[in-house]
Amino acid sequence: MGLSFPAVPEPRNPVDSSLFSSAEIEEEALRLQGAIQQHQRWPIETCRNIAPLTLQINRLKRENDVFLIAHTYQTPDIIYGVADEVSDSYTLSKAARDAPQQTILFSSVRFMAETAKIVSPHKTVLHPSPQAGCSLSDGITAEDVRKLKQQYPGVPVACYINTSAAVKAECDVSVTSSNYLKICERLPGERLIFVPDRFMGAHLQTSLAGKKEVIVFDGECEVHAVFTGQKVRDWRKRVDGEMTVLAHPECSADVLEEADFVGSSEKLINEAKRLGEVGKPNIMLITECGTAERIVAESKTELNLYGACVMCRHMKETQLEDILQALIAPRPDQIIEIEPDIISRAQHNLAEMFRLAE
Ligand code: 13P
Ligand code: SF4
Repeated sequence: MGLSFPAVPEPRNPVDSSLFSSAEIEEEALRLQGAIQQHQRWPIETCRNIAPLTLQINRLKRENDVFLIAHTYQTPDIIYGVADEVSDSYTLSKAARDAPQQTILFSSVRFMAETAKIVSPHKTVLHPSPQAGCSLSDGITAEDVRKLKQQYPGVPVACYINTSAAVKAECDVSVTSSNYLKICERLPGERLIFVPDRFMGAHLQTSLAGKKEVIVFDGECEVHAVFTGQKVRDWRKRVDGEMTVLAHPECSADVLEEADFVGSSEKLINEAKRLGEVGKPNIMLITECGTAERIVAESKTELNLYGACVMCRHMKETQLEDILQALIAPRPDQIIEIEPDIISRAQHNLAEMFRLAE
């Protein structure tokens, strides 16, 4: 039994195909279908329907020198149709910092677009879906962090990158799913405050036991909180032969104990590809559906993906039409603005992340 993916997004309005010839649309539709690699869910008619959108977005990007960044959890039409860079939050933060273009369009949830603005405040950062939040970043305020700092004076505070700019400004360093263990271990002292993910915090408590006490906030990712260790155990009984379990570190300790590999979205994709290449095609992925869709598109070998992925409704807010609209005439709420004082304090936090992660 394989994974079932979320519905293919339909354009909300009729798509204007008059700007392109039918040959251009056909060529683009074939390119999209070839890249997405899900011929049944993305038939050629669907790809033809969205081709005028991807063609127009790509033309506008070229004309206006825009760098389009998309997180792995965006839909395949965005990832393979229009993105210049796709990865996990750490790599995308670096890409935003290093992009030579003066305009970045960040197709993702709000905290990632804010992070791009913090690392490159002189650039224009467009975020097509300002309402796209995240249960982790929306579950903690700067005031919550100030209270913790009062309660534990002098204790370093690390925040998961899934936090607002205002929260980052209160913390000493950000960490991501690809470096939280490394960075937290390198922080000075025998105590550490970690916000806001209680599951990642619990993983830190176990990993740093005997070295550091970790004081944890109680936020969680509404997507990764759904998985249980019992589901993994059930699947292990159902699958014939060896099955490798890959999980994102936003999952509970119960799940992580069952996992053979824990890593960021990009690391999970690379591990799945590697497993396929060494003849271990049975994989249970415990994370958001976008990771599995990228594996299907990018793996050079046939894989059997088991379990049930969960969709992040926030990540799926953005559609090609929103990107096009934000490129043509961004509304004020689609242009990321952050107070200079918050930017400079959050910049220090992210500079520490880059320093300690490398
Ligand atoms: P990654 O950095 O692993 O892509 O994670 C971001 C995220 O929001 C996962 O839910
Ligand atoms: Fe936030 Fe979870 Fe969605 Fe990632 S998957 S953006 S952590 S709600």
